Amino acid sequence: MSSRIAVVPGSFDPPTLGHLDVIRRAAALFDELHVLVVHNPGKEAMLPIAQRLSLLERSIADDGMPGTIIVGAWSMGLLVDYARDVDAGVLVKGIRSQVDVAYESPMAIVNRHLADIETVFLLPDPAHALVSSSLVRQVSSLGGDVSPFVPPAVAEFLDTGARGI
Ligand code: PNS
Repeated sequence: MSSRIAVVPGSFDPPTLGHLDVIRRAAALFDELHVLVVHNPGKEAMLPIAQRLSLLERSIADDGMPGTIIVGAWSMGLLVDYARDVDAGVLVKGIRSQVDVAYESPMAIVNRHLADIETVFLLPDPAHALVSSSLVRQVSSLGGDVSPFVPPAVAEFLDTGARGI
């Protein structure tokens, strides 16, 4: 590994306990971690990027995980351009299943072609293996309790925000 700086990119719409688990594991492996809210042109978002960024910042701070963790947002171009700007040599992604392997592998190959950057896949705790932002969005939009699946700051926001309080 040529760099001890890594980027954990994602839509984080919203951040889940699975995301936090991967961020915690990555923070233990790298000297500096950039957790980056990235616009995914292939998905229609529930939350604006600024809201996702603020929920992610609060969730990471509340978790108390050690290490140098910078939370940011990127919507102006290629992910690898951000990685190059901060001198990161590695992208980190969480893999829950073979479906994630199939989804992530082409992106990892493309990013390596674009910028000679490696992608490292981390396995989250199996307790979070079935948690996804899309399921959280669906349960929340239908009035269900998402607190078992998301950090407390996100649960609080969705509970009050979704009801317009
Ligand atoms: O959480 P997601 O939606 O699975 O994250 C996907 C994301 C945002 C990391 C991916 O769509 C991405 O890297 N978007 C930035 C645009 C880019 O660099 N595309 C080319 C390489 S895939």
